[in-house]
Amino acid sequence: MNTLILNENQLDDPMIQLAIKDAILHDELVVFPTETVYGIGANALSPIAVKKIFEVKGRPMDNPLIVHLSTPQATFRYIKNPPAYSQELMDAFWPGPLTLVFESNGIFPKEVTGGLSTIAIRVPSHPIAKKVIASCGVPICAPSANISGRPSSTRFSHVKEDFEGRVSMLINGGSTHIGIESTVLDLTTKTPVILRPGKITQEMIEAVLSMPINNHSESVIEGAPKSPGMKYKHYAPQGNLTLIEGEMNQVIKFFKERLQQSNNRKVAVLCPDEYTDGLLGEHVFNMGSLKHPEMIAERLFKLLRMMDERGYNEIYMPTIQGEGLAKAIMNRLIKAANHQVIKL
Ligand code: TXA
Ligand code: MG
Repeated sequence: MNTLILNENQLDDPMIQLAIKDAILHDELVVFPTETVYGIGANALSPIAVKKIFEVKGRPMDNPLIVHLSTPQATFRYIKNPPAYSQELMDAFWPGPLTLVFESNGIFPKEVTGGLSTIAIRVPSHPIAKKVIASCGVPICAPSANISGRPSSTRFSHVKEDFEGRVSMLINGGSTHIGIESTVLDLTTKTPVILRPGKITQEMIEAVLSMPINNHSESVIEGAPKSPGMKYKHYAPQGNLTLIEGEMNQVIKFFKERLQQSNNRKVAVLCPDEYTDGLLGEHVFNMGSLKHPEMIAERLFKLLRMMDERGYNEIYMPTIQGEGLAKAIMNRLIKAANHQVIKL
């Protein structure tokens, strides 16, 4: 397939906007940046288009998709029985990196909802995402633009690698500045529940709602999880990633030993700035300072993909403590490491 590559400055051209709309209305796939990660978009009202997303990503069919809208008000066309506080959350966090799960009114095909009676909706804030959705005039479902199981795409080079020649259009928006996916908040239970942590933290949501909410994003749920995406292996580099938990000096000592005793294995250490003293070397990668978790989030998936590019077989990272965004980062790390943690 011939993939058309577009840049941000071309999106103001009405002919280009028409071409994007035409592609989407003909059930084709368009990859575009959002403020969190790149998304792979299709017309959410077309089962044929939605199925293509699952095919090119290699995504399990029971993992539902997030529908992206250009305005908060449009949400009410697709949901029923929204709780009274929905509007407060929309006013506080939309457009932005929060996904809200509502009861669906049944308009979206089962390919979007994974057969659930609920629907996940988000209004992104990225100017390119907004233009794409507004030009198409239909709701756009868009999972993260990565082959299923791989780290999400936060750079244009990532989406080129995964999807060039496999989708109709790729829109280059450079780096996505948040770097991890949106917070998913379920509003269909008596008390709202965070199903996936992100930049919008539990504390931020509680402050708006003036009530405590639940957080299920850390629990590993057996059987049918509330958010089907939680049960799949995610974000994993090809090499074996292990998290090391312990006091900083001990962890640094552990890293040094592993780097020295690497023999024929290619060993890499990914760690925050605070750990790199005395650990310098070509196989040590700086994730940014613990004082700035937003910087760690921004480069996390880039670093995980870099491990594959450089062919590392063994990768070590320290666990990250802290509240808010640090928790969201840790949630991605635990999944990327397939829950392998060594406690020193
Ligand atoms: O930041 C993001 O949310 C990115 C950008 C592209 O918008 N999208 C994204 O989509 O991360 P995806 O498909 O990679 O992750 C969607 C998550 C999955 O864990 C899925 O199981 C969950 O949202 N989800 C979708 N619909 C749901 C529903 N009705 N109930 C519960 N969880 C749902
Ligand atoms: Mg994803």
